[in-house]
Amino acid sequence: MPHQNTIIAPSILSADFANLKNDIEMVNQSQAEWFHVDVMDGVFVPNISFGFPVIKAIQKYATKPLDVHLMIVDPDRYLADFKAVGAEVLTVHIEACTHLHRTIHAIKELGMKAGVAVNPHTSISLLEDLIEDIDLVCLMGVNPGFGGQKFIKQTVQKCAALKTLINSKQAACLIEIDGGVNEQTAKELIAAGADVLVAGNYVFGAANPTQAIADLKAIS
Ligand code: DX5
Ligand code: ZN
Repeated sequence: MPHQNTIIAPSILSADFANLKNDIEMVNQSQAEWFHVDVMDGVFVPNISFGFPVIKAIQKYATKPLDVHLMIVDPDRYLADFKAVGAEVLTVHIEACTHLHRTIHAIKELGMKAGVAVNPHTSISLLEDLIEDIDLVCLMGVNPGFGGQKFIKQTVQKCAALKTLINSKQAACLIEIDGGVNEQTAKELIAAGADVLVAGNYVFGAANPTQAIADLKAIS
């Protein structure tokens, strides 16, 4: 069943960093629900984005929750630091965690929602024994590292299969899709059970970003 109220999370990675405050205020005033904040370490992914001082600056002006996506190795070292700069949802990659169960519970004990991101090649069957403990699964629609990449179309089937897994366990976990979201892919993903849509290039590359957010919201 399509959702009535899909959460839209614009990805700050595609914002204008020289005018970040303007873009934050645009999101504040838009129909988006969350800020998606991408942290890249140049090791887990072949790119480096930004760290604590920038997230702290975003938090200062953001009036909506920060959904922080860690594309970093060994994220356990920094969970408390991300809480301190305002993360409400903290997502780690399954591929970067040796003891994922421990990491998820550490995030929750710090008072954040715990997310697990899954690369395009990673099977969601790996989440079967943990799904009831996770607040959000982030399915990557692209190989992480860069905004503006082409959507990998198998993500739609993966989303539907994940929805089936969540329902079979009566889990309360949200499905987030990150990468390659546009009006067309959003329609298919919402029909397949997506709850949260991250959008970088589609929003910040648009002539009217507020309208682009409203257009995505109208699909949901
Ligand atoms: C990719 C990031 C995404 C990215 C999405 O590594 O995790 O959040 O910003 O960008 P678009 O929506 O442009 O594909
Ligand atoms: Zn992301």
